[in-house]
Amino acid sequence: MTCDNDNEIGSCFESAVKALARARRFDAPVYVTRPNLPTLEAYMRAVAPAWERRWLTNDGALHAQLEAALAMRFDVLCFRLFCNGTVALLAALQALGLEDGEVITTPFTFPATVNALHWRRLRPVFCDIDPKTCNLDPAGIAALITPDTRAILPVHVFGTPCDVDAIQAVADAHGLPVIYDAAHAFDVEYKGKSILQYGTMSMLSFHATKLFTTAEGGALAAPNTVIASEAKQSPPDLNERLRLLKNFGIADENTVIAPGVNGKMSELHAALGLTQLESVADEIANRRRIAMRYNERLADLPGLTTPVFDTEDVKHNYAYYPLRVNGEIYGMDRDALHAQLKLFNIYARRYFHPLCSTFAWCRVEPGCLPVAEAAARETLCLPLYGALSPESAATICDVITQLGTLARETA
Ligand SMILES: Cc1ncc(COP(=O)(O)O)c(C=O)c1O
Repeated sequence: MTCDNDNEIGSCFESAVKALARARRFDAPVYVTRPNLPTLEAYMRAVAPAWERRWLTNDGALHAQLEAALAMRFDVLCFRLFCNGTVALLAALQALGLEDGEVITTPFTFPATVNALHWRRLRPVFCDIDPKTCNLDPAGIAALITPDTRAILPVHVFGTPCDVDAIQAVADAHGLPVIYDAAHAFDVEYKGKSILQYGTMSMLSFHATKLFTTAEGGALAAPNTVIASEAKQSPPDLNERLRLLKNFGIADENTVIAPGVNGKMSELHAALGLTQLESVADEIANRRRIAMRYNERLADLPGLTTPVFDTEDVKHNYAYYPLRVNGEIYGMDRDALHAQLKLFNIYARRYFHPLCSTFAWCRVEPGCLPVAEAAARETLCLPLYGALSPESAATICDVITQLGTLARETA
């Protein structure tokens, strides 16, 4: 395509994109994710016992069943369900007695991570991230530790495990707990065991956008080693403390032990979780197939960096497909690509955007966290879910390929 002057170039690109959109636009929106739902009949069968018992929440039988099944799946003795991941994280901070100080964390995360700290009067101290994994860079942690540091709060971003061994080494050297935000990391394994078996505690989210969902929901898990060392302390132990804290701190009819919250998961939500226990492995396999297709088609395009999933140590869950866009080389930047894709009914997501270090309540000067700032500028999560057809994935790749070519030709 040739365009003769600057004015023509813009309109030339726009008309070429419009023509492409006429040919390749999806009839219905393709969103960044879609929950892996059972049939309505299967859900009704799962929830029926709660109906029959007229027992909707507060330690119901379905809740107990899901809690036990997940504890066994991840091989942890301490496992508590919550109404969502954010409240679970808040309860973890409370259960460990963390308040009034600083927590070293990553800016490249969802607002929930740093907002939970705010509610405990804990100030996030941001550490920059590793450019390859986009997880907290362990090399930066030690320099940020002060007498006010209470904990380290890393995030297994997009389900990719943090460098848990290096983080634990720094934490042990300074006697700090490590609470992992594992919202994205359902079923992820590292060195042959569940990622939830690392650190002091981990939080999961079962939000509707997550690989395993209860619509809204979450959980806390603690490794068995932590529970063993806790057992030496005075009761109630961590597992029991979490149970009480998510129910207002009520211990019995006469006793409230702490200012707990309402963090309970209902029977209706637990029933949805129970229906997915079996199908999540297939969902991961299907997502893997789509992710591999994206990688094959996009890896060699100029200016795009495709994600790494499984490695020797990592069994990934393929929960997200984070593509990095170098605008100078690809032809348009991440924000422009995100906007152009909408013309094709493709709703990718700028994730994480905005960066948490830009929030008014924990702002850091631009330029202080260069790796995270670049990741927040360049990352675009493409649609990824088990039911996405190979043809749809191919069309998304065609559109991204052709948009880049048009942008470079008209630049
Ligand atoms: C990294 C991360 N942490 C925390 C949360 C919050 O979890 P929830 O929505 O279950 O409260 C989310 C997303 O929902 C997330 O992506």
